[in-house]
Amino acid sequence: MRIAVVGTGYVGLVTGTCFAEVGIDVTCIDIDEQKIENLKKGILPIYEPGLKEMVLRNTQKERLSFSTDLASSIQGCGCEAAFIAVGTPPGEDGSADLKYVLAVAREIGRNMTDYMVVVTKSTVPVGTAQKVRQAIEEELEARGADIDFDVASNPEFLKEGAAIEDFLKPDRIVVGVASERAEKVMNKLYKPFLMNGHPLIFMDIPSAEMTKYAANAMLATKISFMNDIANLCEIMGADVNMVRKGIGSDARIGNKFIYPGIGYGGSCFPKDVKALIRTAAENGYRMRVLQSVEEVNESQKEVLFNKIDTHFKGDLAGRTFALWGLSFKPKTDDMREAPSLVIIQKLLERGAKVRAYDPVAMEEARRVLGETIEYGKDEYEALIDADALLLVTEWPEFRSPNFNVVSKLMKERVVFDGRNIYDAADLREKGFTYYGIGLKQ
Ligand code: UGA
Repeated sequence: MRIAVVGTGYVGLVTGTCFAEVGIDVTCIDIDEQKIENLKKGILPIYEPGLKEMVLRNTQKERLSFSTDLASSIQGCGCEAAFIAVGTPPGEDGSADLKYVLAVAREIGRNMTDYMVVVTKSTVPVGTAQKVRQAIEEELEARGADIDFDVASNPEFLKEGAAIEDFLKPDRIVVGVASERAEKVMNKLYKPFLMNGHPLIFMDIPSAEMTKYAANAMLATKISFMNDIANLCEIMGADVNMVRKGIGSDARIGNKFIYPGIGYGGSCFPKDVKALIRTAAENGYRMRVLQSVEEVNESQKEVLFNKIDTHFKGDLAGRTFALWGLSFKPKTDDMREAPSLVIIQKLLERGAKVRAYDPVAMEEARRVLGETIEYGKDEYEALIDADALLLVTEWPEFRSPNFNVVSKLMKERVVFDGRNIYDAADLREKGFTYYGIGLKQ
């Protein structure tokens, strides 16, 4: 089988590489020449555990290739499917901007020579596949070509940091189709990934498009709900860790994605929640729950700063804060919508100094924050003479530091734990003042 994947960002690159891994011939296409040149040399634009090795292996076996030339990649090449995995950046009003998706659809329409399924993989609003179909039809008509094709919607559910595992062993695969022929192609493509018995769910196209938004919106809702409960726990003298265990053992609720923290970040939840609110509004409906989910998330990003401000009685100017973890979550260098950015901005505004360390995101942080903060060589260096330690991203290497060393390096022994990874009683016994999220003081 042969396919084309257009867009070598996070989704496209993981998708193309994982299809190649199971023996499918894949051409990954991007207009960015530098990116393609780098990929040919095994230099990846993103950090994702295991991806580089997989790219190299499959390039070597000649199942995976990279090109800037969409036209020759799909003309007469026997491609059974073309995946569109280009960006859909949020427009000024929060809605997904489809210009890149539709431009690719047009180019496919201008160049396809045989039947193929054109699959939207980017997260796109309900109705986009229909727009893609229309764009291709217009191009075919313009060149007087009578070629049959189908569109399909195949949303991705990859988590950054675990994307390969998620792709190779998915909980489920959702595909929206409008013909049996397209269903057959998609079935053949995904068969190698169904070994764990999890389902490939076929449905109509608008439902598949909606499934993606509903999934992310539900997960974001769980997080904001728990953050709200955590804040109330603090006020009422309850411990959210206990409450989380208490409710999570109810199978209807489940024990995943109910960890309170400092708000969700990343490129997906904030963007998708906003886009769904927007789509609903455009169609005369108000997503009341999601509006609150967003509101809670915005204020949750300030919770850690507020605790710091209260502890130091508003006297932050000239103090140094050691910040562990810059990326929006562990195992990624992604800083988009990272809670660390809000905390840093608030501390800098108040005249404080921040010295940060992150195992992977330092380069990305330098690109975003420049020299507005200092960077430690490692987590311990970041602590030297610090007034407090702020645990912002729960990287595994931060989980059990040597607290004797930590305590010697710091000026004051205060820990603000934005992810509840430390044992409050243990730290207090070691002489630290400890603040978590939703815990008893
Ligand atoms: C999310 C979804 O989990 C994926 O299924 C989806 O495919 C992806 O968006 C997407 O739309 O592309 P991702 O953004 O990589 O994946 O990250 P998650 O692991 O879901 O974490 C999102 C945020 O929620 C992080 O800021 C994390 O710290 C926060 N979170 C997560 C919590 O605060 N509490 C939790 O219990 C879980």
